Amino acid sequence: MTDALVTVQDLRKTYPVRSAWGRVTGTLAAVDGVDLTVHAGETVGVVGESGSGKSTLGRLILQVENPTAGSVVVDPDARMQVIHQDPFSSLNPHRTALQSVLEPLEVAGALSKADARDAAREALAAVGIEGDAVDKRPRAFSGGQRQRIAIARAIAPRPRLIVCDEPVSALDMQVQAQVTDLLQDLQQRFGLTYVFISHDLAVVREIADRTAVMRRGRIVELAPTSTLFAAPRHPYTRRLLEAVLVPDPARARERLAHVASRPAADAPDAAEVLTEVEPGHFVAL
Ligand SMILES: Nc1ncnc2c1ncn2[C@@H]1O[C@H](COP(=O)(O)OP(=O)(O)OP(=O)(O)O)[C@@H](O)[C@H]1O
Ligand SMILES: [Mg+2]
Repeated sequence: MTDALVTVQDLRKTYPVRSAWGRVTGTLAAVDGVDLTVHAGETVGVVGESGSGKSTLGRLILQVENPTAGSVVVDPDARMQVIHQDPFSSLNPHRTALQSVLEPLEVAGALSKADARDAAREALAAVGIEGDAVDKRPRAFSGGQRQRIAIARAIAPRPRLIVCDEPVSALDMQVQAQVTDLLQDLQQRFGLTYVFISHDLAVVREIADRTAVMRRGRIVELAPTSTLFAAPRHPYTRRLLEAVLVPDPARARERLAHVASRPAADAPDAAEVLTEVEPGHFVAL
């Protein structure tokens, strides 16, 4: 195995649950005992229904939130960045593309003004935004182009790891494919490591080397992506896959929503332990 960039151990994050009047009535375990190692150069897909804790895990890995228990250890040389689903809210509407990409470089302060501008222009060129376009504001761009600018902003500070939280979910199918290809090109070119969060199994199947399936704050299955899709072991993974193995995409979406909203007859049992059933294939048993 290659070097571990991030090592997550028995990670937990709970949030207070409040009544309509703001009184704390309990706690919700958004992440509930996750173990995961992310190796340099790989893409780890994280899938699971809405509310399963994917974004919370992403924020804990980025260390923008503190865990309730457990640990996230990040290689000291591994700078991290994030790409969010909605580039409209992650880009300041008053800033030009160039200004948006410059900002994190200026905050880091490691480069001279001229070098920072060069680095920002280079990052924008790498995502296909060049010439006069760099001086335009988000309003002037399409959704796909805005996401390209957000990607340029993430790669400009030369991170080793990027947490991509539903980076193509807001885009049309065709644009999704282009942006997914771009992310793969950039990974090769800059030696990036991705944690790729998505509820879209088709996208994860294409981009991820390994895939973790989350359910109610826990990883119920983790395997090389090809193994996970060819031979899923956990009942929840099987249901997720069955839901999307319907030829008609519109029906697949419907079915997926149905699986996600079904009462959790097969919710992970607190007693389930992630067990290595064959090399690299872990299942909650
Ligand atoms: N800051 C917060 N305060 C309170 N509860 C939170 C907070 N952030 C997340 N949660 C709760 O934690 C659980 C996990 O949320 P999270 O956003 O990580 O799920 P997700 O898998 O990313 O879902 P989605 O697919 O909808 O993005 C949810 O029940 C959510 O309501
Ligand atoms: Mg999320």
